[in-house]
Amino acid sequence: MKKITVIGAGTMGNGIAHVFAINGFDVMLFDIDEKALAKSIINIEKNINRQISKELLTADAGRSSLERIQLVTNLEQAVISADIVIEAATENESLKLKIFSSLSTLVSKETILATNTSSISIGKIASVTKHPENVIGMHFMNPVPVMKLVEIISGYKTSEKTIAVITQLSKKLGKTPVACNDYPGFVANRILMPMINEAIESLQNGVAGVSEIDSIMKLGMGHPMGPLQLADFIGLDVCLSILNVMHQGYGKQKYSPNPVLINLVTSGDLGVKSGKGFYDYSNGIKNPPVAYKA
Ligand code: CAA
Repeated sequence: MKKITVIGAGTMGNGIAHVFAINGFDVMLFDIDEKALAKSIINIEKNINRQISKELLTADAGRSSLERIQLVTNLEQAVISADIVIEAATENESLKLKIFSSLSTLVSKETILATNTSSISIGKIASVTKHPENVIGMHFMNPVPVMKLVEIISGYKTSEKTIAVITQLSKKLGKTPVACNDYPGFVANRILMPMINEAIESLQNGVAGVSEIDSIMKLGMGHPMGPLQLADFIGLDVCLSILNVMHQGYGKQKYSPNPVLINLVTSGDLGVKSGKGFYDYSNGIKNPPVAYKA
């Protein structure tokens, strides 16, 4: 298992390509958008340099890691000789189904097709492929080079062999794989997203302001970031789509996304990536909260 293909060069895709490359794997990083690929390699280089300056990597290892990443815009070329394909495209069910149905026609019957989905059914994704036994959830956390967890989600038809290979592979990356079953939001987001949603509702109810809510949760619970800053970091659009998947999947009101979150996403305030969310990032760093509009 040496050849890895990562589908999607966004934040998660470039983090995943980064960790495979620094652990000696050859990586094909695929995106249909050349600009996204160009941006992602700049980001990977920046994060590798950060590791070099912290003496976590030597300069030579950093350079050869970058050389192991090949940027590709042709899907067939990207996956034809892959041992494992990891999809990290936008969190959108119809897009993922389209990608997996195409992948299934291009790869060998041995190739493992993993998805980094945060919430979408592995069984449903597997159902559009020829070999559902080879489909599995391999859910990395952001920032991928730093966070230790990989949530390993087996679908109804995922084989024991696929689970064993992906578990071993995660360990080879220095990560800690933890297994769970295929329910909307799995474990990480089933617990995280209601907390973020509740933080937004607390803000809406006037219980406290953005900084106060975050400070209380940071200092009181020992979280590295408060829930509103974390929502900005994850992407408010991603939080909204995960909540929608859970709301639809469980049919329970407690997963219904708060209207403030919907309004922010609808108006294009997506958090760090758009420059504005609960905080202002217009100059690239976190500034005081944006005035909250009820
Ligand atoms: N690449 C490589 N290294 C990175 C990095 C990146 N992208 N981002 C941060 N780092 C490193 C830094 O170099 C630093 O290393 P040292 O400890 O060796 O000094 C370390 O991480 C801490 O970074 P900083 O000092 O810059 O900043 P910080 O102390 O504020 O930490 C953080 C930043 C690691 C992001 C921290 O705030 C944190 O852990 N936040 C919570 C992250 C979290 O909860 N992630 C899960 C989100 S949910 C998810 O991803 C799943 C989903 O489906 C939505």
